Amino acid sequence: MKKIPLVDLVAQYHSIKDEIDAAINRVLESGRFILGPEVEEFERLASEYLGTKFSVGVASGTDAILLALDALGIGEGDEVITTPFTFIATTEAIRRRGARVVFADILEDTYNLDPEEIEKKITRKTKAILVVHLYGHPADMDKIMEIAKTHNLKVVEDCAQAFGAEYNGKKVGSIGDVGCFSFFPTKNLGCYGDGGLIVTEDQEVAEKARALRVHGAKSKYREYIADGYKSRLDALQAAILRVKLKYIDEWNEKRREKALLYNELLRNAPIRLPVEKPGCKHIYYSYVIATEERERLQSYLREKGIETVVYYPIPLHLISLYRGLKYKEGDFPRAEKAAEAVLSLPMYPELSEEDIRFICEVVKEGLRSSSW
Ligand SMILES: Cc1ncc(COP(=O)(O)O)c(C=O)c1O
Repeated sequence: MKKIPLVDLVAQYHSIKDEIDAAINRVLESGRFILGPEVEEFERLASEYLGTKFSVGVASGTDAILLALDALGIGEGDEVITTPFTFIATTEAIRRRGARVVFADILEDTYNLDPEEIEKKITRKTKAILVVHLYGHPADMDKIMEIAKTHNLKVVEDCAQAFGAEYNGKKVGSIGDVGCFSFFPTKNLGCYGDGGLIVTEDQEVAEKARALRVHGAKSKYREYIADGYKSRLDALQAAILRVKLKYIDEWNEKRREKALLYNELLRNAPIRLPVEKPGCKHIYYSYVIATEERERLQSYLREKGIETVVYYPIPLHLISLYRGLKYKEGDFPRAEKAAEAVLSLPMYPELSEEDIRFICEVVKEGLRSSSW
């Protein structure tokens, strides 16, 4: 039986093998493995692409958020408003800084933070809004930036799933105070290990983040601004990312084409399809449908060799680790409903039209067979 994976990283490697192999060899021959010219050049290119003044390469997307919050001075006693419908790395970074996670519910159509719900959660202790551009669709940034301005809050963008996504012509990550990216291999811009990036217009934040990633050192062995971290993007990953960055627009465009085809073929199916809001450019890191028949549909697809995944089956306010936050079922109904219904179908730039047609047939068949 034919198997269709959720993502196919080997197919992508083969499409750019010669360039990747040459980039890796260049680093091996250089003898420079940590930071150095490869990282500096990638940071320059990333800034140019994203339209931000400063870029700081770090060890992962999780660390990007952690160091960003640290560089913004967020810590004990502060509250950070964010979404319960995200990967735990988002909230882990807040808690690692000793700040309190305050959740606000999401919008039903994009699964991103609802600005009206954010506003209700603001207290005297609120310091920042941590926005996630989930699945590659930008959050409602105009309204969020306006709220932040009114209440004098920082905005951190978790762009782990959205490299190249745009909101009113601006790349996500360049809109709030700081943008945080992940280059985990399965991300739409992924390296071959762990990697992350912080972007900002604020020189002070960039300089702090630069020091924090090397043990807090402003000047090696001489001057330290704080207890820092050991969190650098390494030269091999930067060299790989330099190659991949050249292709990101083409790959994102292919994702968008695949999404359109899925939308067209699933148009009449009794499921919720992803939306693209006006002014937004969705890059479909994940192609997500929603159905109350999710469990049965997922098993049906599995039987037919189609891999799918649920991002995320439990909204974070209900995980046992966060019991201390005193949230309960019913607090964020839209996030809870989404967690019960979402299902990510295979999505990668090399996914063939034939495979998409097959997947859609099986989805429709599965929904028909589960309706009686
Ligand atoms: C929304 C979100 N935030 C943060 C992260 C963390 O990134 P990383 O795995 O590079 O630490 C991820 C990816 O796993 C993510 O999907």
